[in-house]
Amino acid sequence: MKIIKAANYENMSKRAADLVYRELKEKQIQVLGLATGGTPIGFYQEIIKEIQRDSLSLDWLYTVNLDEYIGLSPDHRNSYHAYMKKHFFQYVDIPLEQQLLPDGMSADPDKEAKRYEKLVEELGVDLQILGLGQNGHIGFNEPGSSFKGKTSVVDLAPSTIDANARFFEAEEEVPKQAITMGIATIMRSRKIILLASGAEKAEALKEVITGEVTEKIPGTILQQHLDITIIADKEALSLVE
Ligand code: F6R
Repeated sequence: MKIIKAANYENMSKRAADLVYRELKEKQIQVLGLATGGTPIGFYQEIIKEIQRDSLSLDWLYTVNLDEYIGLSPDHRNSYHAYMKKHFFQYVDIPLEQQLLPDGMSADPDKEAKRYEKLVEELGVDLQILGLGQNGHIGFNEPGSSFKGKTSVVDLAPSTIDANARFFEAEEEVPKQAITMGIATIMRSRKIILLASGAEKAEALKEVITGEVTEKIPGTILQQHLDITIIADKEALSLVE
């Protein structure tokens, strides 16, 4: 586990962008795994600057997102399809058919989860970006999720619904279910970069780095990944020696 301590959110975002950009430029990544949420927004802003500075074409890149809410259409402003378009895809030349996310509107979400799992497995993720839930979740794999889990339909924990309510008009609007890559799916990725910022992530990050590996705190499994870099700011690392 490599840990990079950043001074603040901006520095965390820049260091992550520099790392990923270098690999993109050298075409060491064919398939890039992406995350949504508050944490990676600065990372997207920074990497877009680097891509635009060099006019780097990414028309060969495939991206696979970790998750999507069930019941939100791609053009719903809170869907992860819309998030990705707003924060990243509109600025780069990755072809639409190479921007892959689970379909939250599928009439058969379980079948959709299986389709997405197969797709991600066949593509093989070179580098996966992750955020961390305050309860230690990765993707939407909430506490208690099996480490052997593949992509599936999951219920969001009440604390996750609470945390995500900040992006919606009202808490009742936050979807209660999502399709998420499973923990086993995530762990198959060749490299992982976990981003964490702010004091509210300190407890979970401490467990991820130094805690017992337990399904009660899904992120602790990352201790067993062979190529993981954690880039976190001082506040998120405040409980780690
Ligand atoms: C997002 C995802 C989630 C978030 C996590 C942290 O695609 O899978 O695991 O990374 O909930 O969210 P923020 O960054 O909003 O604190």
